[in-house]
Amino acid sequence: MTHKVAPSVLSADFGNLDRDIEMINNSEADWFHVDIMDGVFVPNISFGFPVIKAIKKKAQKPLDVHLMIVEPDRYINQFVDAGAEVLTVHYEACTHLHRTLGAIKDAGAMAGVAINPHTPAHLLNDVFEMIDLITVMSVNPGFGGQSFIENTYEKLVQLKNISERKNHRPYLEVDGGVSLENYKKLLECGANVLVAGNTVFSSESPESTILALKQY
Ligand code: DX5
Ligand code: ZN
Repeated sequence: MTHKVAPSVLSADFGNLDRDIEMINNSEADWFHVDIMDGVFVPNISFGFPVIKAIKKKAQKPLDVHLMIVEPDRYINQFVDAGAEVLTVHYEACTHLHRTLGAIKDAGAMAGVAINPHTPAHLLNDVFEMIDLITVMSVNPGFGGQSFIENTYEKLVQLKNISERKNHRPYLEVDGGVSLENYKKLLECGANVLVAGNTVFSSESPESTILALKQY
């Protein structure tokens, strides 16, 4: 399988959102990565339903929605109705993760689980078969443009091994500090979805940076 690239809209210019969405539409990107932050689970607030709906209207590629919020169960149907094709909750924010994953699937989206840098891979063992995508956080969630945490490589390898042992292969997404310097090693360790915010949007030509991240 060739890997996917999901530019993070969090790093877009919200004063020129249409332009940046068009750029992603015209690029080799596969998904739009959409970060939702509630100011409680993470120390930052991003945006909510009106903005997601506005992105959905223009986006010609699937929305990969990453919920950094407490009690995500309360909003699953609303996020799917707003246009999430992939809906990812945080392991650390879910008391009843098995139930939450079932609810996401019932709502008609792919079910994702994100794990923070301190959360070990094996904690996903007992719900592994229900998961369509695992987001390995390679920064502490909350902000774009942070530096990459090195233990991510090992965690990807562990998750790849679990996938093989269980013969169930969810997408392995890496989120935070992904760059042109580290993406190849991440792919070699088992990642097959690269989220990139700062690397794409602070570059001179976001479209060519996306293309570069697709080369392997
Ligand atoms: C961090 C978010 C990321 C962020 C990535 O909490 O989940 O998706 O936008 O941004 P970069 O690629 O700049 O680290
Ligand atoms: Zn994210």
